[in-house]
Amino acid sequence: MRKKIALIGGGQIGQILAMLAAQKELGNVVILDIPDFENPVKGKALDLMQMAPHGNYDSHISGTSDYKDIKGADVVIITAGLPRKEGMNREDLLKTNIEIIKNVAENVKKYAPDAFCIILTNPLDAMVYTFHKVTGFPKNQVVGMAGTLDTARYRSFLAMELGVSVADIAGIVLGGHGPTMVPLPRLTTIGGVPLTEIASKELIDKVVKRTREAGTEIVKLFGRGSAFFSPAKSAIVIAESYLKDKGRVLPCTALCEGEYGIDNLFIGVPCLITANGAEKVFEIELNDEEKNLMKTTMNAVKKTVDECKI
Ligand code: APR
Repeated sequence: MRKKIALIGGGQIGQILAMLAAQKELGNVVILDIPDFENPVKGKALDLMQMAPHGNYDSHISGTSDYKDIKGADVVIITAGLPRKEGMNREDLLKTNIEIIKNVAENVKKYAPDAFCIILTNPLDAMVYTFHKVTGFPKNQVVGMAGTLDTARYRSFLAMELGVSVADIAGIVLGGHGPTMVPLPRLTTIGGVPLTEIASKELIDKVVKRTREAGTEIVKLFGRGSAFFSPAKSAIVIAESYLKDKGRVLPCTALCEGEYGIDNLFIGVPCLITANGAEKVFEIELNDEEKNLMKTTMNAVKKTVDECKI
């Protein structure tokens, strides 16, 4: 039987998620939005059905505002909420989006209790924490999509600076999804060659800074709204690893219970994604400077979670 992917939120990111999921034939896709946006998501779904003959996929795509339609979903990807506008930081979104996520969590718990859940709504780390608290789902069933995107941004900036194929850049960004995130140049390689051996400190610092501010750079360029192609693709990579039991090791926002000295907080760490969901968190031996950066990002995430009062 075909798998089923439920997309909660059918806006900018939701529509690209639907397209990518269909193009990869990950399963049938249901796009759910609020009643006011039911017709637009129905329209997007119909448009995607009409793309199928040339897109070479048989996935069925539908739009709805009724949670009954997500019943039996294998994967739920959540983008419901407001995106960041220019001049707004992710924390400004907190008040509005927390109420939305609580509502979504109640409904996912009721209608798709076995689904692997990937959350994109910002401020990400706090929204994942809230979703997990409200649903009470096992920790392997809930991740946030942030590190996968932050790492993609880091890799693409390095490729742009160094003039090498992005395919050969292996690296990781840990921590919260915000300016305190922790790219790890010490562990970055270009086709097996350590980055620190071929790039100057100035270049590395420039890329690290640009990675930390990458979301804001796009918000400024767009004027309204935030990034959508790359967040959608990053979430699909996680979903695919789960659905196909690929065993990708991806930086995801996962529940830490002692790892990296972090307790009871969702934060970006390397995760093994299999048919069991976020099966394992890998711990990396960090140096003192990296440990301090992890402490700073942990405190920033904790502050936002505390503001949620959940
Ligand atoms: N249930 C379902 N959908 C909702 C709800 C809700 N309670 N509240 C809002 N939505 C829908 C909106 O109607 C809209 O269609 O969520 C969609 C969000 O889409 P956009 O506004 O286009 O935002 P997008 O760019 O997709 O970003 C979504 O992901 O990366 C984060 O910061 C970003 O928090 C934002 C989220």
